[in-house]
Amino acid sequence: MRYLEIAGRRPLCGELTIQGSKNAALPVLTACLLGDGPCIIDNCPQIQDVEDTLAILRMLGCKTERTGHTVSVDPSGMEKTAIFGPQAERIRSSVLFLGALLGRMGEAALPYPGGCAIGSRPIDYHLRALEKLGVRFSKSSPSGASGGASFRQTEGSDGEDGSGLGSDGIYASATRLRGAGIRLPQPSVGATENTILAAVLADGETVIENAALEPEIDELCRFLNLRGAKIRRERGRRIRIFGKQTLGPVRYRLDADRIVAGSYLLAGAACGGSIHFRNLPAEQLSALLAVLSRMGVQVAEDGRMCAGERPLAVENIATAPYPGFPTDLQSPLMAALGLARGESRIWERMFENRFRTAACLRKMGADITIEGSCARIKGTATLRGGAEVRAPDLRGGAALVTAALAASGRSRIEGYEYIARGYEDICRDFQSLGAEIRLTEDRDEKVW
Ligand code: UD1
Repeated sequence: MRYLEIAGRRPLCGELTIQGSKNAALPVLTACLLGDGPCIIDNCPQIQDVEDTLAILRMLGCKTERTGHTVSVDPSGMEKTAIFGPQAERIRSSVLFLGALLGRMGEAALPYPGGCAIGSRPIDYHLRALEKLGVRFSKSSPSGASGGASFRQTEGSDGEDGSGLGSDGIYASATRLRGAGIRLPQPSVGATENTILAAVLADGETVIENAALEPEIDELCRFLNLRGAKIRRERGRRIRIFGKQTLGPVRYRLDADRIVAGSYLLAGAACGGSIHFRNLPAEQLSALLAVLSRMGVQVAEDGRMCAGERPLAVENIATAPYPGFPTDLQSPLMAALGLARGESRIWERMFENRFRTAACLRKMGADITIEGSCARIKGTATLRGGAEVRAPDLRGGAALVTAALAASGRSRIEGYEYIARGYEDICRDFQSLGAEIRLTEDRDEKVW
């Protein structure tokens, strides 16, 4: 078993370059299968979710190549329409292959998507939106869906709610996709992306109302527009997509990952110190920067942050869709506020299980009480190392690393596989800031 060993209580000082964005890489790589010709993606992070997405593309018949942080995807040999296996079941974003496969091939079969267990994470908005474009869902494989899929029974996918999911996966087909007007019940990131991926090659015009505003959606649209698509954002959460016959090849560079940057800023706030971020996506982090300023942490426009020994408490922060405070930074914020002077309250409005991190932080000495969707955090002067804790999910893992970096003594954090889904090399990054952190493997010594 691999785990992180961290000796804490040191300020974080030094320079850092933030890796490419995970949540932009996943839809952009999926969108590579639309149209003709190879696409080259630069600044593509070396993380498990990206590797899983590339494995799915290969399963469909695409050729992929990686050299360092540059990835190429050539969809010209693509012939399959079914995806299956551990990669598809592991990542939430495998559901985006639904829209992309329907757009290119007119049919798709895939297992119910996985991802971090941060809440119930239904996909009803995705399915309803695709239905509006002319997609039909069935309980068995559409004719010709190839690939030998053998799906596992998945909880919640029995279609009893009329969602159209088969008992063991999602089967979808469309003779022709036609543009339509779609209103999402909530501004869902995944449902907005799935609709764009299907609508970009549909006949006619699609308008998505109440679309998500996350920067990763703009990246997907920018990528598709460079390939010849015509997608524009309009006022009031509206996206208009003019369907195209085909899309061409392109070379595209991904932005820096705003969530990785945000979690490192919060680690700096918890530990104190001064960090120079060479490529801080500050304009995408305005909600966090406002909270950091209330915590007494200064972040200059050129990406230099400076934090004192202990942050100040902050009352009433609620997670919300972009441009609100990101739910992905809620757990790292909770870890930093565990050390604040005074009492803070965080409201989690997006994913109900995201407070599971609190139990691990309590083991490290944090004083956190959960009441429904509200966490009350009484800041303490020191967190204790010495605890053995396990990351409950990807961002919860980053929160535990933050707490351990600020705690006295040595900590052991298990569940590295979650952290590796989104952080390229969290040890390298924090070591470059002077932290004592390393990835260790338990030797399974058997005595016969
Ligand atoms: C994406 C991000 C994730 C981030 C989240 C919210 C990726 C790969 N993941 O996840 O890191 O935490 O946005 O910013 O980009 N909902 C439904 N039905 C649906 C779809 C969503 O009820 O069909 C609900 C969800 O349960 C949640 C809310 O809508 O409460 C927003 O979820 P959504 O924006 O779809 O999140 P993801 O796209 O899964």
